[in-house]
This record gives sequence, C-alpha cells and structure tokens, in this order.
Amino acid sequence: MAQADPAPASLHDIAEWVQLCRRCDLWRGATQGVAGEGPADAPLMLVGEQPGDQEDLAGRPFVGPAGVMLERAMQEAEVDRSRLYLTNAVKHFKHELRGKRRLHKTPAGGEVRACRWWLDGERRLVRPRVILALGATAAGAVIGRPTPIMKSRGQPIQLADQSQAMVTMHPSYLLRMPDETAKAEGFRMLVEDLRGAAKLAGL
Ligand code: URA
Repeated sequence: MAQADPAPASLHDIAEWVQLCRRCDLWRGATQGVAGEGPADAPLMLVGEQPGDQEDLAGRPFVGPAGVMLERAMQEAEVDRSRLYLTNAVKHFKHELRGKRRLHKTPAGGEVRACRWWLDGERRLVRPRVILALGATAAGAVIGRPTPIMKSRGQPIQLADQSQAMVTMHPSYLLRMPDETAKAEGFRMLVEDLRGAAKLAGL
C-alpha cells in the first residue's frame, strides 16, 4: 500500500488492506498485519503499541500476556471489552530473534508515523468519543506529540477531530515490573484510568 492509496471505507477494508501494507519494512519479519477489533461504533478506543508474539500469530490484538492483564483490569473496572475498539499504533510485530524466541522491539518514530495512516483510518471510521492510549508509543501516535504518561494520566486532552484522549501505562510495562508493590500500584492506576476513560465515553 503506497501513499496515494484510497482511504479505507470500512474496518473490513483496513483488516484486509493492512496485509498488503508496505509503508515501512516491519511486514517483512511479521506473520501478518494485526488490525483493530471491536464494534464500529465503539465510544471508547484503546490503543496499544504493537502486536506481540501471540498477536502476530493469532492476527488479533491483545490476546497474549498483556491482553490477559488488560482483561483483568477491565473486569476490575467493570468495563466490558466487547463494547470497546482495541487496536495498536503499529500493526506489525517488531522483534529480534534470540535463539528461537522473538523478543519485542520498540518501533521507531518513522515506523509509528508510517502506521498512522491505519490508525487515522480506524479513528475516522469508528469516531470514538474517547481514545485511551496505553503507554508512550500509543500516546505519541494518538496525540501527535510526546506525552509523559505519569504526568498526563487522568486529564483528558482535546483532539482536533473532537474526540478526547487519555493516557495510561501499558500493561506490558506492568508485567515487566520486578517489584510486586509497584506492580500492584500500577495495576490500580490502570484500573482507575480505564474507569475514567469509560465514564468520559459514556459507558
Ligand atoms: N501489546 C500491545 O501493545 N498490543 C497488543 O496487541 C499486544 C501487546
């Protein structure tokens, strides 16, 4: 898919066309592109960084360990996953091989910018009232500038398309925390932020 491509007219177009995406080189190492999923009229969109190992194989967002953590937080916040649109800033899994393991690599700025085309398409089609960005990569992609998570969480940010953004930490960040007390506190914040975003979205 090149710069002059027509804008996708449906989420179905996005899911199909992202398989042909050549806007950056990440497709080369990935099994498939992973588009978002959820109702086309979801009032709340959650944006993660990129598919992980399991998402790359399944072709669905948030089905691996980060998704399990996110699901737990949603349950605690009493937010119904089936009413949300879940997607990622980058649609292909960036990784490096370490033996047989595929280790996550953070996407570069140029890769995030190249993939904005898909995220913007999803935003235009779903028109969510609120977008909750999980982690710094998603926050940068959604808001268009670097946005410190801890300083900005809890405060809605008005976006040009009339939606509002909120930011919170990425569940994978919590999974990597070695300190159990800090992890529990981070989880509590994630739940609080999910609840806040759902309330703002009218859910
Ligand atoms: N991490 C993400 O940011 N997105 C996923 O879909 C899975 C893990």
